[in-house]
Amino acid sequence: MSDLHVVILAAGKGRRMHSRVAKVLHRVGGRTLVDHALGTARALEATSLTVVVGHLAEQVTAALEGEPGVRFVLQAEQLGTAHALLQTAPLFDGVTGRLLLLSGDVPLLRPETLRRLLEAHGAAGAAATVLSATATRPYGYGRIVRSGGRIVRIVEERDASAAERKIKEINAGIYVFELAPLFPAMRRIAASNAQGEYYLTDLVGLYRRRHLAVETVVLEDTTEIRGINSRIELAEVAALVRQGKNEELMGRGVTIVDPATTYIEQDVEVGADTVIHPGVHLEGRTRIGAACEIHAGVRIVDSTIGDRVVVNNYCVITESTIAEGARVGPFAHLRPGSEVGHLAKVGNFVELKKTILGEGSKANHLAYLGDAVIGDRVNVGAGTITCNYDGVRKNQTVIEDGAFIGSDSQLVAPVRIGAGAYVAAGSSITKDVPPGALAIARARQENKEGYADKLKKNEE
Ligand code: UD1
Ligand code: CA
Repeated sequence: MSDLHVVILAAGKGRRMHSRVAKVLHRVGGRTLVDHALGTARALEATSLTVVVGHLAEQVTAALEGEPGVRFVLQAEQLGTAHALLQTAPLFDGVTGRLLLLSGDVPLLRPETLRRLLEAHGAAGAAATVLSATATRPYGYGRIVRSGGRIVRIVEERDASAAERKIKEINAGIYVFELAPLFPAMRRIAASNAQGEYYLTDLVGLYRRRHLAVETVVLEDTTEIRGINSRIELAEVAALVRQGKNEELMGRGVTIVDPATTYIEQDVEVGADTVIHPGVHLEGRTRIGAACEIHAGVRIVDSTIGDRVVVNNYCVITESTIAEGARVGPFAHLRPGSEVGHLAKVGNFVELKKTILGEGSKANHLAYLGDAVIGDRVNVGAGTITCNYDGVRKNQTVIEDGAFIGSDSQLVAPVRIGAGAYVAAGSSITKDVPPGALAIARARQENKEGYADKLKKNEE
């Protein structure tokens, strides 16, 4: 929208969080609170996007580094919401249009609601429009005071009279302002209240006294505008976000056996007919295909899983890909850079790191495969270890198509096992094995005939 400027307030101390991390950097649904606000703002395609930072400013700017088109304004001292917005005044010198003010601690707000707010503002020709909601528990929020049905001012909880505290209509802390009268009026706000802060909410009373039109858009409930001021509210809002995500996925044909114990972050995608069992965590930019089975206790982070994949109980999978029809687990650990091929199998207590396991290949039990390129139809026996680290650098193991690695073998990298070659069980392979060869690299067995009888005789 042209002539629309968005400002997000994210400078506050967030005292009630008792945290060394800036409040707006706490996460719900895997994304920081300020990122939620930014995402909502971006959907409106505003002309400019400004974030006011202050308390732990370096943390917040660092977290938003690389976000295109975001301007930062510093509020060096946190003297209240009006003071915060006032810091952006130089940016809007001579600029006309509307300013939409968002709070960095209100992550559930939807772009549709903001469009409604902007529309109502435009239709009424108001100087300011306030987003409000009817709350069953208004405690902690500013209250909308009306006279003859019209908003006359906003009073903060701490400054409210007993009668005002009974008001159920609360201030969302989200507003649209015409730029022209805004900053001159803002400069007249005083800090004469219980907290000694400059309250943006005082602008409403000030406008009304100057006969500037103030409108409201009233939401039916407070869910969407819930602000986060404490860890308790953080957990409550996170639960709502989680529930929303689970419902969205179930709506698209994903079975979630127990939504109460399923943790799927905002950006995760899951295909239809996939079944997700209890206690599963899907995080970051994870994509799961259709008709998969993700068993209990699995955690998958930033990974891509094809269709019809089975991930058995208690696997941890990070920055990896698993192709269609593969089976993994139980108790497998896929560390970053692992690629499990089509119909391949990774069994229990197998760890992969930066390893490609080719089509139809198997590593079914107790193995460590690191920095390895493993071809198709390879059988990796139980207890196989790639010795990829010599204390200085990581070395590569290559196992070509169709090779057979006997149980309990160590492959000392860099080393190559040729196509179709065999490695005898218990071998320590330190030299390349040519294609089709059998490598035996262990002490030869010696049998001492009649040993037990001899022992017995000696004892007599
Ligand atoms: C504010 C409103 C209250 C409303 C509620 C909705 C005021 C005075 N009160 O109260 O009416 O019901 O939001 O959630 O506006 N911030 C700064 N600099 C500051 C102070 C705050 O940038 O000096 C930022 C915070 O980081 C936060 C936002 O402004 O993102 C709101 O501040 P907060 O202290 O959470 O205000 P509330 O007490 O929740
Ligand atoms: Ca707040």
